[in-house]
Amino acid sequence: MSSILQRNIKLESHYIPVDVKIREAILKRGDELNRSSPVRADHTQWKLHRNSEYSYFIDKFHEIYPKYRINELWGCTYRQGDYAEAHNHFGFDLAFVWFVDTCSFCSPLIFPDTQHLWMKPHHILTPEVGRLYVFDAEDIHYVEPHTCEHPRIIMSGNVRRNINTEVLENDPWH
Ligand SMILES: [Fe+2]
Ligand SMILES: [Zn+2]
Repeated sequence: MSSILQRNIKLESHYIPVDVKIREAILKRGDELNRSSPVRADHTQWKLHRNSEYSYFIDKFHEIYPKYRINELWGCTYRQGDYAEAHNHFGFDLAFVWFVDTCSFCSPLIFPDTQHLWMKPHHILTPEVGRLYVFDAEDIHYVEPHTCEHPRIIMSGNVRRNINTEVLENDPWH
Protein backbone atom coordinates (compact mmCIF):
# COMPACT_ATOMS: atom_id res chain seq x y z
CA MET A 1 0.00 0.00 0.00
CA SER A 2 1.44 3.37 -0.95
CA SER A 3 1.61 5.95 1.77
CA ILE A 4 -0.58 9.05 1.59
CA LEU A 5 1.16 12.36 1.20
CA GLN A 6 -0.36 14.75 3.73
CA ARG A 7 0.09 18.49 3.51
CA ASN A 8 1.57 19.99 6.62
CA ILE A 9 -0.80 22.48 8.28
CA LYS A 10 1.00 25.13 10.29
CA LEU A 11 -0.62 26.17 13.51
CA GLU A 12 0.69 28.37 16.31
CA SER A 13 -0.75 28.49 19.80
CA HIS A 14 -0.51 31.34 22.29
CA TYR A 15 -2.33 32.44 25.43
CA ILE A 16 -3.83 35.90 25.97
CA PRO A 17 -5.94 36.21 29.13
CA VAL A 18 -9.47 37.32 28.34
CA ASP A 19 -10.64 40.79 29.29
CA VAL A 20 -14.28 40.50 30.40
CA LYS A 21 -15.06 43.86 28.75
CA ILE A 22 -14.31 42.34 25.35
CA ARG A 23 -16.66 39.45 26.07
CA GLU A 24 -19.45 41.88 26.96
CA ALA A 25 -18.75 44.07 23.92
CA ILE A 26 -19.07 41.13 21.48
CA LEU A 27 -22.20 39.85 23.18
CA LYS A 28 -23.80 43.30 23.11
CA ARG A 29 -23.16 43.78 19.38
CA GLY A 30 -24.89 40.50 18.57
CA ASP A 31 -25.47 39.81 14.88
CA GLU A 32 -24.45 42.66 12.60
CA LEU A 33 -24.09 40.61 9.39
CA ASN A 34 -27.49 38.93 9.25
CA ARG A 35 -25.87 35.50 8.84
CA SER A 36 -24.33 36.35 5.48
CA SER A 37 -20.93 34.76 6.16
CA PRO A 38 -19.99 31.05 6.37
CA VAL A 39 -20.28 31.45 10.13
CA ARG A 40 -23.90 30.61 10.88
CA ALA A 41 -23.90 32.33 14.25
CA ASP A 42 -24.16 35.90 15.55
CA HIS A 43 -21.35 37.76 13.79
CA THR A 44 -20.24 41.34 14.41
CA GLN A 45 -19.05 43.60 11.62
CA TRP A 46 -15.51 42.99 10.30
CA LYS A 47 -13.73 46.17 11.42
CA LEU A 48 -13.66 45.96 15.21
CA HIS A 49 -9.92 46.72 15.13
CA ARG A 50 -10.87 50.37 14.46
CA ASN A 51 -12.58 50.45 17.83
CA SER A 52 -10.52 51.12 20.96
CA GLU A 53 -12.65 48.68 22.97
CA TYR A 54 -10.55 45.88 21.52
CA SER A 55 -7.09 47.46 21.70
CA TYR A 56 -6.13 45.28 24.69
CA PHE A 57 -6.23 42.21 22.45
CA ILE A 58 -4.88 43.95 19.35
CA ASP A 59 -1.81 45.26 21.21
CA LYS A 60 -1.06 41.83 22.66
CA PHE A 61 -1.42 40.22 19.23
CA HIS A 62 0.99 42.71 17.64
CA GLU A 63 3.48 42.12 20.46
CA ILE A 64 3.52 38.43 19.50
CA TYR A 65 3.45 39.14 15.73
CA PRO A 66 5.35 42.42 15.27
CA LYS A 67 5.76 41.84 11.52
CA TYR A 68 2.01 41.52 10.93
CA ARG A 69 -1.01 43.79 11.15
CA ILE A 70 -4.62 42.88 11.93
CA ASN A 71 -6.67 43.94 8.88
CA GLU A 72 -10.04 42.63 9.98
CA LEU A 73 -11.37 41.76 13.42
CA TRP A 74 -14.75 40.41 14.43
CA GLY A 75 -16.52 38.48 17.15
CA CYS A 76 -18.90 35.50 16.91
CA THR A 77 -21.43 34.18 19.36
CA TYR A 78 -22.56 30.60 18.75
CA ARG A 79 -25.73 29.36 20.43
CA GLN A 80 -27.15 25.84 20.31
CA GLY A 81 -27.31 24.68 16.69
CA ASP A 82 -25.02 27.45 15.37
CA TYR A 83 -22.02 26.33 13.31
CA ALA A 84 -19.46 27.48 10.74
CA GLU A 85 -19.41 26.05 7.24
CA ALA A 86 -16.04 24.92 5.88
CA HIS A 87 -14.25 28.05 4.63
CA ASN A 88 -10.89 29.77 4.48
CA HIS A 89 -9.70 33.38 4.64
CA PHE A 90 -8.34 33.70 1.10
CA GLY A 91 -6.51 36.95 0.35
CA PHE A 92 -4.84 37.30 3.75
CA ASP A 93 -1.59 35.88 5.13
CA LEU A 94 -2.74 34.65 8.53
CA ALA A 95 -6.03 34.21 10.33
CA PHE A 96 -6.72 33.48 13.98
CA VAL A 97 -9.26 32.51 16.57
CA TRP A 98 -9.15 33.61 20.21
CA PHE A 99 -11.48 31.74 22.57
CA VAL A 100 -13.24 34.39 24.65
CA ASP A 101 -15.92 32.41 26.49
CA THR A 102 -16.00 28.66 25.96
CA CYS A 103 -15.85 25.40 27.87
CA SER A 104 -14.02 22.21 26.95
CA PHE A 105 -17.30 20.69 25.71
CA CYS A 106 -17.89 23.51 23.22
CA SER A 107 -17.60 22.48 19.56
CA PRO A 108 -13.99 22.33 18.43
CA LEU A 109 -12.48 24.18 15.48
CA ILE A 110 -11.61 21.51 12.91
CA PHE A 111 -9.03 21.62 10.11
CA PRO A 112 -9.93 18.72 7.81
CA ASP A 113 -7.45 17.02 5.52
CA THR A 114 -9.18 18.33 2.39
CA GLN A 115 -7.21 16.10 0.01
CA HIS A 116 -8.05 13.00 2.04
CA LEU A 117 -11.40 13.53 3.70
CA TRP A 118 -11.51 9.91 4.82
CA MET A 119 -8.44 10.49 7.00
CA LYS A 120 -8.61 12.06 10.43
CA PRO A 121 -8.51 15.89 10.42
CA HIS A 122 -5.18 17.70 10.64
CA HIS A 123 -6.28 19.47 13.80
CA ILE A 124 -9.22 19.35 16.19
CA LEU A 125 -8.89 22.38 18.45
CA THR A 126 -10.76 22.12 21.72
CA PRO A 127 -11.80 25.59 22.94
CA GLU A 128 -9.99 26.92 26.00
CA VAL A 129 -10.59 30.42 27.33
CA GLY A 130 -7.70 32.71 26.40
CA ARG A 131 -6.18 30.31 23.87
CA LEU A 132 -5.18 31.96 20.60
CA TYR A 133 -4.60 29.84 17.50
CA VAL A 134 -2.96 31.40 14.47
CA PHE A 135 -2.99 29.63 11.10
CA ASP A 136 -2.42 30.16 7.38
CA ALA A 137 -5.36 32.12 5.98
CA GLU A 138 -5.76 29.60 3.14
CA ASP A 139 -6.34 26.62 5.42
CA ILE A 140 -9.91 25.35 5.39
CA HIS A 141 -11.71 24.94 8.72
CA TYR A 142 -15.18 24.59 10.19
CA VAL A 143 -17.10 24.40 13.47
CA GLU A 144 -19.66 21.67 14.13
CA PRO A 145 -23.07 22.72 15.49
CA HIS A 146 -22.74 24.04 19.02
CA THR A 147 -24.49 21.91 21.64
CA CYS A 148 -23.70 23.63 24.98
CA GLU A 149 -26.44 25.67 26.65
CA HIS A 150 -24.15 28.65 27.18
CA PRO A 151 -22.96 30.76 24.22
CA ARG A 152 -19.59 29.98 22.63
CA ILE A 153 -17.91 33.37 22.13
CA ILE A 154 -14.80 33.85 20.04
CA MET A 155 -12.88 36.65 18.43
CA SER A 156 -11.35 36.15 15.00
CA GLY A 157 -9.34 38.13 12.53
CA ASN A 158 -7.49 38.39 9.25
CA VAL A 159 -3.87 39.43 9.23
CA ARG A 160 -1.41 40.68 6.61
CA ARG A 161 2.34 40.76 6.71
CA ASN A 162 3.60 44.27 7.36
CA ILE A 163 5.07 45.40 4.00
CA ASN A 164 7.38 48.00 5.55
CA THR A 165 9.06 45.38 7.73
CA GLU A 166 9.68 43.20 4.69
CA VAL A 167 11.30 46.04 2.77
CA LEU A 168 13.61 46.81 5.68
CA GLU A 169 14.70 43.22 5.97
CA ASN A 170 15.16 42.40 2.30
CA ASP A 171 16.55 45.65 0.99
CA PRO A 172 20.32 45.90 1.64
CA TRP A 173 20.19 49.70 1.22
CA HIS A 174 18.18 50.16 4.39
FE1 LIG B 1 -12.64 31.18 9.81
ZN1 LIG C 1 -19.41 24.83 26.16
